[in-house]
Amino acid sequence: MIPHSEPYFSGNEFAALSHCIDTGWVSSAGPAVVELSKAIKELTQSPGVLALNSGTSALHLALIGCGVQAGDYVVIPDFTFIATANAVKYCGAEPILLDVHPQTWQSDIGLWIEWLNENGVKKEGKCFHKKTGRCIRASILVHALGNPADAFKWAAVCKEWGIETVEDAAGALGSMLQNKACGTIGRFGVISLNGNKIITGGSGGLLLCRDLNDLSYLHHLSTQARLEGDLYEHDAVGYNYRMNNLTAALALAQLETLNYRIEIKKKIYQGYRSYFSQGIWPEIIPSAQPNYWMVAFINPDQEELFQKCKSAGLEVRTLWKPLHLQVPYQNCERINKISFAERIWKQGISLPTSIGSFMDGFPSLSAII
Ligand SMILES: Cc1ncc(COP(=O)(O)O)c(C=O)c1O
Repeated sequence: MIPHSEPYFSGNEFAALSHCIDTGWVSSAGPAVVELSKAIKELTQSPGVLALNSGTSALHLALIGCGVQAGDYVVIPDFTFIATANAVKYCGAEPILLDVHPQTWQSDIGLWIEWLNENGVKKEGKCFHKKTGRCIRASILVHALGNPADAFKWAAVCKEWGIETVEDAAGALGSMLQNKACGTIGRFGVISLNGNKIITGGSGGLLLCRDLNDLSYLHHLSTQARLEGDLYEHDAVGYNYRMNNLTAALALAQLETLNYRIEIKKKIYQGYRSYFSQGIWPEIIPSAQPNYWMVAFINPDQEELFQKCKSAGLEVRTLWKPLHLQVPYQNCERINKISFAERIWKQGISLPTSIGSFMDGFPSLSAII
């Protein structure tokens, strides 16, 4: 069976982890954490990078950095991993769920603009919901499946309305849009190093910050808001969100082969794309260079194709269940006309892309069709 998304170890991981143990650097203070932040800064050209214990923590801090408070709204796509919505709730705010576009599977910007024109009011540079009077403080644009969403257009619309933009680039490390790294276009960007990502630290997250004042404030919050010195003094309610050195060392060793990983993922994508050419595939937008992290398409008979793929040795999966169908988010306000997010869930097929299974090229799949 070709596993769906297993981590791939390229060679130096064992030595990197052994070195941490040999030197005693296994916790959050450690040279690899600093090195990883530097390496990601260089790779993405983000002015600041904060290494954290998960992408979810990074999303939470990003929203705090945008000033999201209890009672605010944050607009997010209906089609995303639930962590995007949970981070909003951690701030005491409420998500508004925007449907995704049938062509790209990314937040539908046209629908968003229409909704804003009808439901938004601008006051003193901020945007408020006409009906409830609550502030629509921020938005999270997700680069779904590692494919770049149009963050330039999104951020421009949000800026016009006084709404902050966070890019959830959890699966999009290495993806580019108009030669800019995904995650560097909004005020904040978030990358996950969870086990199924293109590179992993076992777990872990990276917060990309455009503004260094944001970086130092959020770094402080991520360390339990502890003040310097030995007196155990804290000046705010902080979080234990720091990355540990083992995670950073593992991620650094994996990062050495990021370009190679993207090359293999691209070949996997091309292989599937020509094999399942009758499927309905999400479009890659112009001037985008995806990392091809996850490969998925829509087939009207999901169940039948699932069975065939499984018999042929492919560990296929469904995609994210839309947030409006999840227990904690079923009463959220929605912006939609047709609920394409539901169609992706009911008819989408996420194909296995574990790099280690494709080292000898794309397998023959003649048993499936
Ligand atoms: C779109 C999206 N956002 C956020 C996350 C959360 O990242 P983490 O698992 O590192 O907390 C994920 C994780 O897969 C994700 O896919």
